[in-house]
Amino acid sequence: MKKLLLVLLLMTFGSQLLAAGNAENGKLISYTCTGCHGIKFYMNAYPSYHVPRLGGQNEAYIVSALKAYRSGERSHSTMKAQAGSLSDQDIADMSAYFASLK
Ligand code: HEC
Repeated sequence: MKKLLLVLLLMTFGSQLLAAGNAENGKLISYTCTGCHGIKFYMNAYPSYHVPRLGGQNEAYIVSALKAYRSGERSHSTMKAQAGSLSDQDIADMSAYFASLK
């Protein structure tokens, strides 16, 4: 029984440690993003300019979009500047956070 419990614990916390993204950390580091990708009302400071909604978006999609901006595969000067300094871990964490929003 103890062994089973240990296995369960490892499965729960072990997978969290290894998980691609940590949403808690993502929330902290995506503070600047929310100025444009406004979370609560999905609004933007410049109403004439479309800023895509990130909350609830597919996690893998956000990861690939950010990597594409970072590498220049997707060209958009603002987002390239935003994503340019992010590490893979930052991207994973932020994506987990945005994907977790409803
Ligand atoms: C200055 C405003 C601004 C800031 C700050 C900003 N973004 Fe963006 N973001 C945009 C705009 C505008 C687009 C649409 C770009 C395009 O058309 O490719 C975009 C696109 C995206 C996309 C692609 C969405 C899709 O549906 O394809 C992702 C993912 C993203 N941003 C994540 C982030 C993250 C993470 C941060 C913080 C590090 C951030 N953005 C900060 C304005 C901003």
